[in-house]
Amino acid sequence: MGTENNRSRREFLGKALGAIAVAALNPLAVLLTPRDVLAAGNGFIIDLNSQSYSQLNSVNGSYRIVIPNTKEVFDNGDVLPYAFIVTRTTSSAFSIVLGWCTHRHYELDHYNVQTDLIKCLNPDTGHDSTYSVDGIVLHGPSKTNLPQYEYSYHTINNTLEVFIPGLAVKDGEVRINALELFQNFPNPVKGVTTIPFKTHYYSKVTLTVSDALGHIIAVLHDGGLSAGDHSFEFDTSIFPSGTYFYHLSDGGETLTKQMVVVR
Ligand code: FES
Repeated sequence: MGTENNRSRREFLGKALGAIAVAALNPLAVLLTPRDVLAAGNGFIIDLNSQSYSQLNSVNGSYRIVIPNTKEVFDNGDVLPYAFIVTRTTSSAFSIVLGWCTHRHYELDHYNVQTDLIKCLNPDTGHDSTYSVDGIVLHGPSKTNLPQYEYSYHTINNTLEVFIPGLAVKDGEVRINALELFQNFPNPVKGVTTIPFKTHYYSKVTLTVSDALGHIIAVLHDGGLSAGDHSFEFDTSIFPSGTYFYHLSDGGETLTKQMVVVR
């Protein structure tokens, strides 16, 4: 397990440094900075008036954009910064797709109008996957299309709002919402209630319940959970009526909601 973690970490660092190197060498690769980021729910806004994105004011202009200090966790356990390729396909439409090859999560080039392709930049033999501008696999070992991201184009101020599930923006900084805690149901509760929550990447989480005085009265979960929707049941039947609180924590962030027990 430790070896596997070390391997993943090495691969992650290698890929992340590779991405940064590509960004430094390739004028069409951009590292998004907090200055570029404006609050926009589950995503962020790219200001197309900025010199940094000038190519996007022309049809077929394309950039690969990496969002530093973020982590996207893929199904196979790879952890990489969020990255996507944005291409202007018409005067009013864009294609926004994942910026990592779906074969082994190596970095992709931006869309190249000369070849009409997005290419995997993995130099190893046989890693020659290519994709269309909208992320369809055209060739190579990759079998999975690049996921597309939704967006809104605001013509009035020439900004592009990109929606990426799991990303959040606070105070001009891109952050990942690691956890989301939802209301228990039923609530008020007489017997058993269900507490739903979501983890946006693999996390070690604790789910506890406390009484109104802050004493922990139940630990419903303490351990690792993969990314996704989860729920745990809590049997209230041995507790008196009153207000209780449930807490979801990954060691850094703690979310709390309240429930009412009736007898
Ligand atoms: S990593 Fe892209 S084709 Fe293998």
